[in-house]
Amino acid sequence: MKFAVIGGTGLIGSQVVKILNADGHEAVPHSQSTGVDVISGQGLGGAVAGADVVVNLTNSPTFDEASLAFFQTSMDNLLAAAQKGGVGHFVILSIVGADQVPELDYYKAKVLQEDTLAAGPIPYSIVRATQFMEFMDAVLSWTVDGDSVRLPATPIQPVASKDVANAVAEVAAGPR
Ligand SMILES: NC(=O)c1ccc[n+]([C@@H]2O[C@H](COP(=O)([O-])OP(=O)(O)OC[C@H]3O[C@@H](n4cnc5c(N)ncnc54)[C@H](OP(=O)(O)O)[C@@H]3O)[C@@H](O)[C@H]2O)c1
Repeated sequence: MKFAVIGGTGLIGSQVVKILNADGHEAVPHSQSTGVDVISGQGLGGAVAGADVVVNLTNSPTFDEASLAFFQTSMDNLLAAAQKGGVGHFVILSIVGADQVPELDYYKAKVLQEDTLAAGPIPYSIVRATQFMEFMDAVLSWTVDGDSVRLPATPIQPVASKDVANAVAEVAAGPR
């Protein structure tokens, strides 16, 4: 099968590309560094053309309220390009419990991304993961105060990005 992995140069995207290609598929990574921009729409038509599946693993450059516009615009552009290109399955990676923390802009943005996909024209799958192990330094840095490291009040159950990438690849190659 042919896969367009948008955000395919990122932490999860690059691993998903490797897994799919090792499994005998044809997975091509796309991102700003390959000339594809999900916000301006530059290069999107060519990126999704001929793909059976689009896997969207892009991320917002910020986690603040600007992330809402990022996920809305990127999904609108990607869904339009995917529909035009006859893509049969659209996969995104979201966050476990995102809908339960509406006071966090970034979580609100991920729910917006899910809702936009669900309301769109393409058969879809949503994979939800907890925070990646690789992201733990950043998460804990938010509650570090000098030499004191405070555990966040919210329970955390991190997952290795490799396990997430395997799950995304399995879903993307599976039935829609
Ligand atoms: N962090 C977590 O713990 C966690 C947990 C659950 C789900 N997720 C979700 O997992 C997904 C992937 O996260 P990640 O950590 O793998 O992201 P990442 O490493 O930051 O990679 C982001 C990717 O998006 C691309 N990108 C950013 N802006 C773009 C644009 N305007 N046009 C085209 N490509 C663009 C980047 O390409 P360039 O470098 O070329 O710009 C890069 O390939 C995200 O949607 C995130 O919400 C994350």
